[in-house]
Amino acid sequence: MTTALEIDEELLDAFIGDGSIADVLYVVRSGKEATVYCCRGAAASGGGLVAAKVYRPLDRRNFRNDAIYQTGRDAAMESRTRRALANKTRHGRDVQYGAWINAEFQTMRMLHAAGADVPEVFSRSNGAILMEYFGDEEAAAPMLNRVTVPREQAEQLLRRIIDNVTLWLTNHLVHGDLSPYNLLYWEGRIVAIDFPQAVDARINPSARALLGRDLENVCGYFSKYRIRSDAERIAKALWAHYRAGRL
Ligand SMILES: Nc1ncnc2c1ncn2[C@@H]1O[C@H](COP(=O)(O)OP(=O)(O)O)[C@@H](O)[C@H]1O
Ligand SMILES: [Mg+2]
Repeated sequence: MTTALEIDEELLDAFIGDGSIADVLYVVRSGKEATVYCCRGAAASGGGLVAAKVYRPLDRRNFRNDAIYQTGRDAAMESRTRRALANKTRHGRDVQYGAWINAEFQTMRMLHAAGADVPEVFSRSNGAILMEYFGDEEAAAPMLNRVTVPREQAEQLLRRIIDNVTLWLTNHLVHGDLSPYNLLYWEGRIVAIDFPQAVDARINPSARALLGRDLENVCGYFSKYRIRSDAERIAKALWAHYRAGRL
């Protein structure tokens, strides 16, 4: 039987083989859905650090395939694929795996190009994404929930996060799993990660609720700095502007 580690090795070896990375330095974190590795980029691209997010093989993880995230996602799929997905066949599961990784790659690429504070993505394979790394050779950037930022900076960071949420919504996207666990803090700035479940605000009926929850998680974190912000009021105003085409 192949272990999860062997599968990761195979995927990482392929990136070394095609010259995308030179070396794997350390494991950053092995989460419920993916393992992230710190890698040295290939000499051709300057040799800087690169993050490899390797998704868990399908049968070892539970995709967040709740209807709330998937609504609208399969609109463009062929009916054969849609049937396979509905029936949870092997083909359907493969499609779902690919769709999930592709969704994260495309979302991050689009948002980075739009100027959002998200890692730049470089490439993807069937099972992994290579992206800009935040951290150094010793350690990765900490998640926001692990740090206490200087009080005088906190307000500005919250503003910046809300500006990001606004920019995402301008691009019809709601993160859907935003929290201090998916915000990295590096060199005084924040970086948002973990986008596979992002939803399309134009078609997903849960988008408004997810926007509220995302903002609740963020504002809740900043309340420890005695910054009072009303997540629901912000969500309501943002949504109203969005729906009116005024964002
Ligand atoms: N580009 C990156 N640079 C540095 N660390 C990262 C990067 N992307 C992810 N990480 C680290 O890996 C962890 C898991 O990544 P994430 O995308 O949140 O996947 P999941 O939470 O689904 O396992 C993050 O909490 C963060 O600590
Ligand atoms: Mg995460």
